[in-house]
Amino acid sequence: MRFFSKHQDFSKSAISVIALVNCLANSVLAFTPPPVFENTVLSRTIDITGSYVRETVSITIKNVADKPEYIYYFALGPDSFTKIAVFEGRERRSNKGSLLTITPSTKTNDEENVNFYEIELSTPLKPHEESVIQFGIAFVDQIAPSPEYASQSDSQLLSYDGSRFTLSAYPSISQTLKVNTVGFNSEDLTAEDFQADEDNKEEGEEKYNLLPESEATALTYGPFTNVKPYSVSPMIVRYEYPRAVLKTTKLQRDIWISHWGATISFEESYQLHHFGTKLKDNSFSRLEFNKRSPDYNLNIASFKGMEIMLPENAREPYYTDLVGNVSTSHFRKSHDGSSLTLKPRYPLFGGWNYNFTIGWSVDLDEYVKTLEPDTYLLKVPLLQGPEEMPYDEVVINIVLPEGSTGIDIATLHPSQPETLFFTKSYLDFAGRPSLQLVYNNLIDSYRRTFVFVTYKYTPQAAFSKPLVLSGVFATLFTSILFLSKIDLSVSSFKPKKA
Ligand SMILES: *[C@@H]1O[C@H](CO)[C@@H](O)[C@H](O)[C@H]1NC(C)=O
Ligand SMILES: *[C@@H]1O[C@H](CO)[C@@H](O)[C@H](O)[C@H]1NC(C)=O
Repeated sequence: MRFFSKHQDFSKSAISVIALVNCLANSVLAFTPPPVFENTVLSRTIDITGSYVRETVSITIKNVADKPEYIYYFALGPDSFTKIAVFEGRERRSNKGSLLTITPSTKTNDEENVNFYEIELSTPLKPHEESVIQFGIAFVDQIAPSPEYASQSDSQLLSYDGSRFTLSAYPSISQTLKVNTVGFNSEDLTAEDFQADEDNKEEGEEKYNLLPESEATALTYGPFTNVKPYSVSPMIVRYEYPRAVLKTTKLQRDIWISHWGATISFEESYQLHHFGTKLKDNSFSRLEFNKRSPDYNLNIASFKGMEIMLPENAREPYYTDLVGNVSTSHFRKSHDGSSLTLKPRYPLFGGWNYNFTIGWSVDLDEYVKTLEPDTYLLKVPLLQGPEEMPYDEVVINIVLPEGSTGIDIATLHPSQPETLFFTKSYLDFAGRPSLQLVYNNLIDSYRRTFVFVTYKYTPQAAFSKPLVLSGVFATLFTSILFLSKIDLSVSSFKPKKA
């Protein structure tokens, strides 16, 4: 995670683009991290209960070198490397459990087909000393329907391709893996094939029992002992999933600030995509849909609507799609927030898209504080929007009042190699200075992070509020995943009778 802040005077009207180093350029082709660590105990949990993959990896590392070491290389296959939405870690050695500094490495090892993240320990680890490091990682686009097509009366089967061994540049004394599933007929499609190969291994070679133990809502593997560096054991977990799997291929989020009207208006345009099982021959039958069979089938896995939480004091909400206002949207206000329930006119099946726009307003002082006379601080969530949502692309436009100057922006940026760019442009948007932020591979957890903008603005009417800056920037570094419930409750996946 990095903190970006760049001051630029709007009067220059410049379009500036901060393009960060492309990590894959200038790479060292066969980098091997020095063998200074050993994974004493490595345990990994892969959670595939939602529409993106969440992993937690806990590693007891030991310095096996003869001098203090502080850089641990976390290895990832190139497929995983480009799909990271969040990668954060903490170290348990310091009792605070401080967040670790994690940087995608420019070094790769093409022979072993791996990329690395550099993990900087809080203090160097002395020879023979151990420490526990833990990671929370979220990946997008790692789940796909298998088979891709089915008929409306079939159930939706999804698959996750991964490895039973956790890829590592270091040897592991012991590794375990747990795959949390929704608990509907999960199976490891390849385990038996690979087990036969394991059993035929030569004398002296390490043999593993690759067959998982199936529990109601999990597959557990291992412990695997003495796993060599860069070991992989490909697996395909296939499971029945009685819910729509959605992603937003593109979100445009426009935030308009009006001092004159003392409001902030939000407008969000979603291009939604159901990436689950597609209907064979595109043969949707309304009759079959209305039958409401109690069995799992694609009707149950279709998208029929969702609830979007809005700020408690949201006003004038609206929801439109291509045809205009949608009568079935429903706005509800309560003490813990407001929500907008959307229902498209037709159920959405795998491969289908749905575009819609929502909007709302709140009072200006919910998000804008006066720092000093005529100088303001805007603090808005990076995302709002629905739960359990991966995003391919998010474009955020922040439109400031006409005449704003001295604009400065700070935000947390996802540390994802493909998205190591950050577009900041000052566009002339109907005469109002605007900032544009472009992100790839986000997930709903980014609702807990903020974009900060400071600007100077001299309105006709005085607008002043008390100075509230202390502590604001500290909140930039809060954890995204560790604060969230990583193990989702399975009870919410009870088959719904449409
Ligand atoms: C949508 O609803 C708003 C408010 O009720 C109304 O002003 C607007 O004309 C409607 N638009 C369409 C396309 O029906
Ligand atoms: C959604 O919007 C995008 C971009 O305007 C367009 O290419 C796409 O066809 C739209 N999809 C639907 C289902 O309307």
